[in-house]
Amino acid sequence: MPTVLLTGAAGYIGSHTWLALQSAGFEVVGLDDFSNSSARVLDRLKELGGRTPVFERASVTDAAALDGVFSRHRIDAVVHFAAFKAVGESTAQPLSYYANNVGGLVSTCEAMRRHGVKTMVFSSSATVYGEPKYLPYDEVHPLAAMNVYGRTKLFGEQILRDLEASDPAWKVAWLRYFNPVGAHESGRIGEDPRGTPNNLMPYVTQVAVGRREFLQVFGGDYDTPDGTGVRDYLHVMDLAEGHVAALRHLLEQRASATVNLGTGSGTSVLQLVAAFERASGRPIPYRIVERRPGDLPAFWADATLARELLGWQARRDLAAMCADSWRWQSRNPTGYD
Ligand code: WQD
Repeated sequence: MPTVLLTGAAGYIGSHTWLALQSAGFEVVGLDDFSNSSARVLDRLKELGGRTPVFERASVTDAAALDGVFSRHRIDAVVHFAAFKAVGESTAQPLSYYANNVGGLVSTCEAMRRHGVKTMVFSSSATVYGEPKYLPYDEVHPLAAMNVYGRTKLFGEQILRDLEASDPAWKVAWLRYFNPVGAHESGRIGEDPRGTPNNLMPYVTQVAVGRREFLQVFGGDYDTPDGTGVRDYLHVMDLAEGHVAALRHLLEQRASATVNLGTGSGTSVLQLVAAFERASGRPIPYRIVERRPGDLPAFWADATLARELLGWQARRDLAAMCADSWRWQSRNPTGYD
């Protein structure tokens, strides 16, 4: 079976994709610099995968290190997760976001080319769609980034389109994630943000486990059913399996693809809170406060193309997302450390 290099492999989505790829029979080489993840993930992956993970500690901005990795392993394809992902932080630190997210992508592609590897799955985001011209977002919706983080994803997509146009031997899957939540059913790996969580679900789980006093609901006066923001939440294991489907498409069909990975339905903040309370049996106190600058009222995916082209669709529902998130957080109250 092919060998896949995962950059950012120790991260939330990378670690779950690692398990899904192994289950699907792929050989995996993980790469991470632990700038936004814990080395403890590797112990958990060994426990869950039943084998010692093949791992390389390196930054994707380090060309010499990447050459070493490609020399030591026969890589057939790369899944590129490695990137910083905090929207607010990206506005405060644009250079580090461009250096790591865009520079890191370029150096990864240069190393791939030097070693004759021209198959990549790129971790993109629904954030590249910007203000909705219509909903649900389909893959031909106009693109416009609303913040530095979003621009690093938009520029990353364009770099790969230009690369493919220059050399059709390159095969790329641009995967636009909606809102990943949940955790592996074992509760042994999960989302473990550093500092105060930016995203909704990890903040909710930290309230439930007693690390935070209450949830701030950013805005209760949006034009949505209950006034709170609506998003397309997607179980991280469904997302991981979407990467397996995309890799199979690239390796078997030898054709590139741009695909939304979402469930196709929207859930409001208060609906997610209620679902989490049902799943965990824990109350989630909240206060409705001012809107968060830059937030969109509502968006969700048109998930048709993933089903038709990749034969993939989300299978896990909101109750499972909440139950699995809670199992991870309740068994790991302070995350990995
Ligand atoms: C979801 C909803 C908030 C926190 C961002 C990035 C996206 C991806 C996922 C990287 C919104 C509300 C949140 C809180 C709240 N990141 N909320 N209280 O903003 O849709 O997407 O994270 O890949 O690219 O843009 O996700 O989880 O931050 O917010 O009320 O403490 O929850 O207003 O309506 P978002 P989110």
